[in-house]
Parts: sequence; structure tokens; C-alpha cells
Amino acid sequence: MKVTVVGAGNVGATCADVLAYREIANEVVLVDIKEGVAEGKALDIFQKAPINLYDTRTIGTTGDYSKTAGSDVVVITSGLPRKPGMTRDDLIQTNAGIVKSVTESVIQHSPDAILIIVSNPLDVMTYQAHLSSKLPKTKVIGMAGILDTARYRAFLAEALDVSPKDIQAVLMGGHGDTMVPLPRYTTVGGIPVTELIGKEELEAIIERTKFGGGELVKLMGTSAWYAPGAAAAQMVEAIIRDQRRVFPVCIKLDGEYGIDDCYLGVPVILGKNGVEKVLELELNADEKEMLEVSRGHVKEVMAVLDNLN
Ligand code: NAI
Ligand code: 2OP
Repeated sequence: MKVTVVGAGNVGATCADVLAYREIANEVVLVDIKEGVAEGKALDIFQKAPINLYDTRTIGTTGDYSKTAGSDVVVITSGLPRKPGMTRDDLIQTNAGIVKSVTESVIQHSPDAILIIVSNPLDVMTYQAHLSSKLPKTKVIGMAGILDTARYRAFLAEALDVSPKDIQAVLMGGHGDTMVPLPRYTTVGGIPVTELIGKEELEAIIERTKFGGGELVKLMGTSAWYAPGAAAAQMVEAIIRDQRRVFPVCIKLDGEYGIDDCYLGVPVILGKNGVEKVLELELNADEKEMLEVSRGHVKEVMAVLDNLN
């Protein structure tokens, strides 16, 4: 199986590294626009193979998309990251152009690939990739829900002093401050989280999760990469190994949850065809209201993209 990762920066290189050392693909092609960067990082990852014992071949290229030909999955991470004080939406103008041109180049050489979008603003860049690729919506998927859920799960594990492995959770909505965590659907080793933690502490964790990306931008001066890179690789694995994992991912909604023509995070089954099924949960009135706020926000940014295009 062949996977291309476009953008050999922090997130892209981390994703390629996880794909290689976990042998998720036989071949990983890293692409960047900066001369030599993708080649250098691909070589570095391959030189780690004798130490960490993996077979995956990693190849880098500065913009030669013929080397990506026949990819089964393509992860798009190219674009500017946030700096302190910026919102994800501030990136739209620059990143839309990048995602558009990159998607067109990718599709030219891998017309049957499944695309995983990471560039921000995530929901709207997934829209851009869908427009530019003209692929079915089940094959153009945004990564954010796994990351946001992982942050929420990590904070809960810390607060409850339990293994992060035992926290199961789902978040919905756009990748931003309007995301919709669902404590009703959060369990700790099968126990509803509300049995184990007070309302106020849970509320504080939910708030911290909503601004989890910003917390890291403040600390590092740029956005996160270890968890985002691993999250994108987990999506690739689910597709390549046809695992039918249940993950929150961004996909175009056409009637699901009563929402039309909007790119939002929802729980899905992820397998060899991309999104195999959108899972529709029963939401209560508060949750529906939060999802509606998130939908409204993403629609506004989608309209900005429509004007740019
Ligand atoms: P970075 O700056 O480290 O890497 C981006 C790379 O894209 C750079 O190496 C740059 O040269 C490359 N690039 C720019 N234009 C290109 C083009 N036309 N073709 C090929 N490569 C090109 O940034 P980082 O931290 O890797 O973040 C990448 C994107 O992912 C940002 O937009 C960031 O906001 C987003 N992100 C999204 C997350 C999510 O949950 N969806 C999580 C973390 C980051
Ligand atoms: C994050 O949530 C910036 O979207 C990126 O870390």
C-alpha cells in the first residue's frame, strides 16, 4: 500500500514517521514545496528503520507529483499553521490556494485515492479538497475529531488518574471553539464519566478541550504536531487495513443530523472505502443547539471560501 503525505512540516513529517515505524504502508511519499526538505526528512525516517526495525520505504520529493502516482491514501497537511493571536479561520486565504493546487496535482496522479485533509481551517479545507478533487464525499475526509477527542480523553485521564486507554469519548461539530463534546457518550472502562467526576470539573475539562489547540499555540508559538500527526496516521491505518474503526471525522453532511450541505465532524465507520457509514446519535436539545451553533460558524467560513473561489 502506498501513502502520500503532502507537506513535510511538523504534522506531515510526524504522520509519515508514524506510518513508517508502525508499518502502516509499504511506501510513504513525502512532498513539500521547500527544496530538499521532504527528501531530507524521508531519508532521515528511512535511516531510523534499522534502529526501530521497520521495512517501510520513505521517499521525499520537492513538488514532483509523478512520484506520488498510484497512492491509495493521500494526507494533505500543506499550509500555514497558526501563530499566537490567530484563529484557524485567519488561515483561509493562503491555505485554500495551497489545498486547491495540491489536491489537483494529487488527483492527476492518484485518481482513486482517499484524501485525508489536515490543513486549517479544517472543515472548510475539507470542502476545498472536495471541490477540487470531485471525488465522492466518502473519500474526502477531514482530521480533527480524533485529535480533539484525544485531548479531551487525555485531560480526563489526568483528572481521574487512570490510563488514557480506558477513556472512550466522542466529539462532534467543527474543529474550533464551537466543537461539541458529548459527556453523555463518554465512558471510563465502560462506566459513564458522569459517575466519576463532578459537574464543574467536567465542565472545566470540556472548556480546556475546546481551546486545546490554542493552549499549545501559546506555549510553542506554533500549533501542535505529535498528536495531530498520529491522529492522521490512525485514520490512514483504519482505511488501509479496512479496520472499520469508529471515529469522529469531518465529512460533508447531506441530511444527517438534519444538516444539509455542511462539512462537520460526526462519528463514522472508517474502512477501505473511506467513510463506510455516518453514525447518527440521538442528541438532546442542548446538544442539538450546540451543533447548530457549530454548523452556523462553519457555514460562515464556507461562504468566505465560496467568495474566494
Ligand atoms: P508547518 O509549517 O510545519 O508545515 C507545513 C508545510 O507545508 C511546510 O513544510 C510548507 O513548506 C508546506 N507547504 C506549503 N505550501 C505547499 C505546497 N503548495 N505544496 C507542498 N507543500 C507546501 O505546519 P504544520 O504545523 O505541519 O501544520 C500544517 C497545517 O495543519 C496547518 O494549516 C495547521 O493549522 C494544520 N493543523 C491542523 C490540525 C487539525 O487538527 N486538523 C492540527 C494541527 C495542525
Ligand atoms: C490544533 O488543534 C491548530 O488545529 C490545530 O492543534
